Amino acid sequence: MADLSVNFVGIKAPNPFWLASGPPSNSGYQVMKAFDSGWGGAVWKTLGIPTINVSSRYGGVNYRKTRMIGLNNIELISDRRLSDNLRDIEDVKKHFPGHAIIASLMVQTRDEWHQIVKDAENAGVDGIELNFGCPHGMCERGMGSAVGQEPKLIELITSWVMEIAKVPVIVKLTPNVTDITLSAKAAKRGGANAIALINTIQSIAGVDIDNFIPYPIVGSMSTNGGYSGPAVKPIALNMVKNCAMDNDVSVPISGIGGIETWRDAVEFFLLGAGSVQVCTAVMHYGFGIIKKMIIGLEQYMDEKGFKSIDEIIGKALPNVTNWENLNLKHRVIAKINREKCTGCQLCYTACEDGAYQSIALPENSINRVPIIIEDNCVGCNLCSLVCPVDNCITMVRKDNITEIETWKQRTEAGNIPSTFDDELAGGLKHPSANPLDALKRKKNN
Ligand SMILES: Cc1cc2nc3c(=O)[nH]c(=O)nc-3n(C[C@H](O)[C@H](O)[C@H](O)COP(=O)(O)O)c2cc1C
Ligand code: SF4
Ligand code: SF4
Repeated sequence: MADLSVNFVGIKAPNPFWLASGPPSNSGYQVMKAFDSGWGGAVWKTLGIPTINVSSRYGGVNYRKTRMIGLNNIELISDRRLSDNLRDIEDVKKHFPGHAIIASLMVQTRDEWHQIVKDAENAGVDGIELNFGCPHGMCERGMGSAVGQEPKLIELITSWVMEIAKVPVIVKLTPNVTDITLSAKAAKRGGANAIALINTIQSIAGVDIDNFIPYPIVGSMSTNGGYSGPAVKPIALNMVKNCAMDNDVSVPISGIGGIETWRDAVEFFLLGAGSVQVCTAVMHYGFGIIKKMIIGLEQYMDEKGFKSIDEIIGKALPNVTNWENLNLKHRVIAKINREKCTGCQLCYTACEDGAYQSIALPENSINRVPIIIEDNCVGCNLCSLVCPVDNCITMVRKDNITEIETWKQRTEAGNIPSTFDDELAGGLKHPSANPLDALKRKKNN
C-alpha cells in the first residue's frame, strides 16, 4: 500500500492534504474536526492584529447548474484575538501531535514579525507561512499582495522572519503579478524554506444589474476581492509549473488553487508540488471530501506503482517545453464513433462557426451523424471538447510518427514565414470556402 505521509521541508504530516489558510482553518474546533476527518495538516487562518470584517463578504460565480465554480471573497485575515487562536493551536496540537499545523502570519513591522513568529512557535506550530497574498483590504494597508507584488519587499520581510524563525518558513505568493518566478526567487533570496501558491486572484464576481452594485454587496457598495475555487486551477497549475521548472527557484512548493478531488491534487504533484492545500472546496462541501481524496490517491499510487508522494512530484515536468520545441509534423484528425453519436450536431456548429468548416451534415435527414471532412480537419480538438458524449469524438493520429520538425529547427534553418504574404504560411494549403457562400447558405435556409 502506498505511503501518503509527507515530510515537507521538515514539516511532517500523515498525508499531503492540508487545509489552506481561510475560513475552514479559523478555529480550533474546525481544525480538530478536520484532522479527525482525515486532513493531514492545516494552515491556520492568517494571524496578525485582528481585523473587522464586513457582511456580506463572498460572491459566487455559477456556471449553468453548477454553483460556485468560482468564489470571490473580500474577507480579511483573522478577526479573532491572537491569544484565542494560539490557545486553540496548542489544544489541537496536543490532540494531534503528528499532524501539521502551520501558522499563517501577516503583520507590518520587523518587531511585529519577530513577536508573532515567537508567539506562534511557542504555541507549538510546525511551520510558518507568510501571507504576502491577500489582494483586497490588507493590501490597502501595505500588507498582503502589496508585499507580494514587490520582490524587494518579499525578500526583506522574509529575511526578517528568517532572523528569528526556528521552524520551517513557507512564503505564500500572490498570483496578481506578471511573472510569479520573480516573487519566488525573491522569497528564496530572503531565505524561505519553501513557497506556497496561489493565493486568490483579484476579481469582481459579477454585478447586480438592477441596482448597479458589484457582488458581494455591502450596503450599497462593493469592492474587488480574491477569486478561488475550480475556476482558478489552470492558472495555479501553470504558476506552480513555472516555479518548479525555474532552476533559480528550486525550493519545495505547496500547491493551492481550485483543488477539489484527488485527481486535482495529483496534477499539482506532477507539476512539482510537494503538498497541496484546499480552501474553497471545503467551504463548499465540508471536511468530509478528504475521505475520497485519500482513497483515490492511494488507489492511483498503487495502480501506478508509486510508493511515496516524493515519487510523483514533478513527474510531468519533463513533458513540458516551450512552444518552439513542439513537433510541427504531429497531426491528428477528428473521428466520430457512429455507435455513440446522439446526432446532436453540436460538433458541426462548433467546427462550422468556430473552427475550420471540416464537418459536414448528412444529406439524409434521418441519419443525423455528422461527417468529418478529413482533408480540411486541422486537428484542433474543438469538436471533441464540445461533444457531450464521452469518447464519441476521438483524435486519431495521422502523421508519420518518426518525423519531427520544430519551429526552433525551422528558424535555425531559415525556413519560417517572415513576410506578411509568405508562401510558408501554415494555413496556405487549408481549403477555405468562398466568403460569399456564407450568404448563399442563409438564403437557402
Ligand atoms: C474566504 C476566503 C478567505 C481566505 N483567507 C485567507 C487568509 O486568511 N490567508 C491566506 O493566506 N489565504 C486566504 N485565502 C486564500 C486561500 O488560502 C487559497 O490560497 C485560495 O482560496 C485558493 O485556494 P482554493 O481554490 O482551494 O480556495 C482565503 C480564501 C477564501 C476563499
Ligand atoms: S457532438 Fe458528438 S454526439 Fe453530437 S453529433 Fe457530434 S459527434 Fe455526435
Ligand atoms: S478537430 Fe477541429 S477542424 Fe477537425 S473537425 Fe474537429 S473542430 Fe473541425
